[in-house]
This record gives sequence, C-alpha cells and structure tokens, in this order.
Amino acid sequence: MADSVLIFDTTLRDGEQAPGFSLTAEEKLRMARQLEALGVDVIEAGFPVASASDFAGVAAVAHHCRQTRVAALARALEGDVRRAAAALEGAARPRLHVFVATSDIHLEHKLRKTRDQALREAAQAVALARTFTDDVEFSAEDATRSDRRYLAAVLEAAIAAGATTVNIPDTVGYTVPEEYGALIGWLRRSVRGAENVVFSAHCHDDLGMAVANSLAAGARQVECTVNGIGERAGNAALEEVATALHVRRDALPYTTGLTLEQLHPASQLLSELTGVEVQPNKAIVGANAFAHEAGIHQDGMLKSPLTYEILTPGTVGRSGHELVLGKHSGRHALRQRLQRLGYALEGEQAERAYAAFLATAERRKAVVDSDLHRIARQAATRPEASPAPPTLEAAAS
Ligand code: KIV
Ligand code: ZN
Repeated sequence: MADSVLIFDTTLRDGEQAPGFSLTAEEKLRMARQLEALGVDVIEAGFPVASASDFAGVAAVAHHCRQTRVAALARALEGDVRRAAAALEGAARPRLHVFVATSDIHLEHKLRKTRDQALREAAQAVALARTFTDDVEFSAEDATRSDRRYLAAVLEAAIAAGATTVNIPDTVGYTVPEEYGALIGWLRRSVRGAENVVFSAHCHDDLGMAVANSLAAGARQVECTVNGIGERAGNAALEEVATALHVRRDALPYTTGLTLEQLHPASQLLSELTGVEVQPNKAIVGANAFAHEAGIHQDGMLKSPLTYEILTPGTVGRSGHELVLGKHSGRHALRQRLQRLGYALEGEQAERAYAAFLATAERRKAVVDSDLHRIARQAATRPEASPAPPTLEAAAS
C-alpha cells in the first residue's frame, strides 16, 4: 500500500513574497479557490505580521476555505503568533506555522541570539500557538546548514510544546537528495516524540534540486508552489512533485489527494494574476512541455505518442500535444498539418510544398497556419508552362 503525502501549498506565502509576484487579498482568494479545486491539503496564505494586505489576504482565504486547512506564518515571537492567530479567526481548519532559524550562521549574523535562547523562544511560541489551535507547525529555518544535534534538540522542544508538524527547510537550496533524505531519516529516528508528528520537506531551488530533494526526503508533507515561484530561484514546483509521484509511482510509492487535471489551470491562473509568464521549457506547464519540432520526434509521435511522451497532456489539464512546425520538421508532420487545414497534397505538389515550407522555416522561428495556407495554395497550382520561343516566320512578320 502506498503512503500518502500531504501537499502544503505555499504559493501565496513563500511564492508571493518573491519580487514581482505580489497579490492583493482578492487575487489570493481567486488563487485559493483554484488550489482547492486542485486538492491541496494546506494553503499557506501569508505572513500576517508583515503587512496589512498580508493580514487581509490570510483572513480572506481563511473565511472562504471550509475543507482545506489554511496556514499563517509567524516568527517565534509573541506579537507574530497573536497576529497570525487573529488573521486565522473564522477559519474552519486553521494552522499556525511558527519558525525560528537554527543554523549558527543565522543565529549569529541575523538573529544575534544564542542557541539556548532560540530553543526557548521556539518552545514558548509553539506553546502560545497551541492556545489558538491544535494544528501547529514548527519550522527550523536553514535546517540543512544547522548542527544536527542542536536541530534535533530544537525539534524535540517544539514537539514537547505541542507542534504537530515539524518542517525541515532547505532554506538556501544547499542540500542534495541523498543527504536530505538521510538527515530526515536520522531526525525521525533520533528525535523524542518524532513518531507522533508529521515531518515536512521544504526545498528551495538555488542549485536546481528542489524537486529532487523533496522527493528524496521521505517526508509525509511536501511544501511547494505553483510554477515553482518563490524566493530567489524559487521553491519546489508543485506540478513537478505531483506528476513525478504519478508517473513514477513504481519508484516513488506515495499518493496525494490532488486532481492532476487542475495543474495546468492553476499554472495559468497564477500567470494571469501575477503577470509573469512561465518559461517555455518549464516541465509540465511550460508552452513547450508537450511540443515537438524535430522531424524524427514528430514522426515518432504521429506513429505513437508513447515514443516521446511519458505523460499525456490531458492528464495535467492541457488540450493536447502540439507538433510545432519549424526547420527541424519533416514531411510527415507537414502533410498531417496540411490535411488538418484541408489540403491533401500528393506527389510533386507535396514536394513543392515541402520545399516552400523549408524556405519559410529558414527565415522564421516557426511556420504558422497563415504561412501554410499560402504554401499549400501555391504548391497546388501547376507552375506556368514557359512560353514557346517565337518562330522565324512570326519574328519576320
Ligand atoms: O525557506 C524557509 O526556511 C521558509 C520557512 C519560513 C519555512 O520559508
Ligand atoms: Zn522557504
């Protein structure tokens, strides 16, 4: 039996705080509706102490969602926890998410706190959070660059104070899959009370390994964002985590409650709301993720999509795979597209069309339907016979 993994979506918090991605409370609410349709387990809606609009966004999402848990972030400070709790008032399933940094780098240079101080404050903040809700998550910021034994001690204190989920963030995208999986495995075995809490993976993509690290974590909750948006290089992309678990369920035996057909609509809505387009070659949701241009690939795809597709576009809510016509395309793909446009060219006409197509493709990045109509009409018309040379008599008269 496959174990289930909770999907904790932080698009509206870690994603939204990245430059250029800010959303109004109303926009957060629209996105939250789509995340509900997608079936995520937790929506982290914001960091209420950060601004009035963050508070309003969390409050709007908290009032709306009746099934999906709604989380609000707070530093391990009394004022933060109270503000986050106030924003979650009225939520059907509120989660308070408390964090403190545990690496010496952060403690010394950012917080200027001792290890003991940070541990005490973490426990106090978690205990306070528990007075508002019995669903409290604790995060050890920069966990992957923290001293293991100290990290374990802080987690132990947080669990003893009432945390029900403990998150092990790779805040700066520094870890590698094997190391991250081993760290979480060691913590699960070593931390007192670990068997009573959910371990969570939260990975950033600075070295391009956020998704791989999340999948290697062996955690029962994965924190991720739509389109992988987030601080610096972003967070683990939700759509990649979800489809990897689906396509490679033989190797990754974890189920989620997601409706995969809602992945592409979620990606599109986020781009519409933020005004930021997804890069064309982005896995799963990029414009080219299901497009084929090379002639050999197109020929294979026309014979059987199994040749070059490990997943159908429909699975993630896209309309269909696309054969892009460009200078790498072959006769087979051109003939098929011309047939779709209503032209059945054979023999010499087909050859003329292919030559004209290649000439156009050399000049342009992609050949579009209006080009194809012109090419097909010209190829279907027999070339004018050259006029006969004038006879001697005609020339003399
Ligand atoms: O990356 C990080 O450490 C975070 C925490 C606040 C969970 O986003
Ligand atoms: Zn983060």
